[in-house]
Amino acid sequence: MENKIVVCYAEEKFREKAEKLAKKLNTEIRNEVKENELTLLYDERGLTLTDGDLEVRGDFAENRNRLSENNLRQEFLVKAVKSKNMEENPLVIDATAGLGEDSILLAAAGYRVIMFEYNPVICALLEDAMDRAREVDELREIIDRMTLVEGDSTEKMSEINERPEAVFLDPMFPERKKSALVKKKFQLLQRLEKPATDERKMYDEAAGLKPKKIVIKRPLKGPVLQGTKPSYSIKGKAIRYDCILL
Ligand SMILES: C[S@@+](CC[C@H](N)C(=O)[O-])C[C@H]1O[C@@H](n2cnc3c(N)ncnc32)[C@H](O)[C@@H]1O
Repeated sequence: MENKIVVCYAEEKFREKAEKLAKKLNTEIRNEVKENELTLLYDERGLTLTDGDLEVRGDFAENRNRLSENNLRQEFLVKAVKSKNMEENPLVIDATAGLGEDSILLAAAGYRVIMFEYNPVICALLEDAMDRAREVDELREIIDRMTLVEGDSTEKMSEINERPEAVFLDPMFPERKKSALVKKKFQLLQRLEKPATDERKMYDEAAGLKPKKIVIKRPLKGPVLQGTKPSYSIKGKAIRYDCILL
């Protein structure tokens, strides 16, 4: 992870939040964003990661039309996670939460979702997005089904003492050959990423929870996750969900 990241606040009213985050990340605090400096900025829009040019912010309200019942029925992830004879209030573990865009689809489809995220900056962005979404009437109930745990899922997953319906894994995509193909918002996030997670260990820890299935998100033509053999796959235009029935 790039070491230098600073926390900024646009107005005095955001100073307290900014100070709290800077303390947690053990980093400097400023009241102006400098060009090319990786910065976490608090302003009216919430918490934004920026380098003075590109910006990334978690935002659940923006894509709320994706959460309609009609749309959820079509979502490949929801189809991939679904099983016959589901428990009431089923639990899904998202071992690689990111900005929670996949998790919210599952929560909107009625699952309780426990999300793990080990990058403290991404975790802060996700937490802020959840706080803002709680202010939106139609999202509050959905967000209440989502629990964020900061930490490495390969170490913490085993502490869950409930059998989940499914464990969902979406570790970083293999590097693309042409960096121009990487979406702009991911360029900023990639500056934060730990180089790689032990995918095999993640799979083994997931299997240790004895879920009905493990669902792994891959690029459409990407390799299967190390050493796994999907029972079946659900394919979209650019993404594939490998489902392993246990
Ligand atoms: C491809 S992104 C996930 C995107 C996510 N599915 C979404 O919808 O926003 C992978 C995320 O998993 C996190 N991650 C990778 N390995 C992890 C681990 N062992 N424990 C917790 N988080 C991990 C990374 O920091 C990154 O934010």
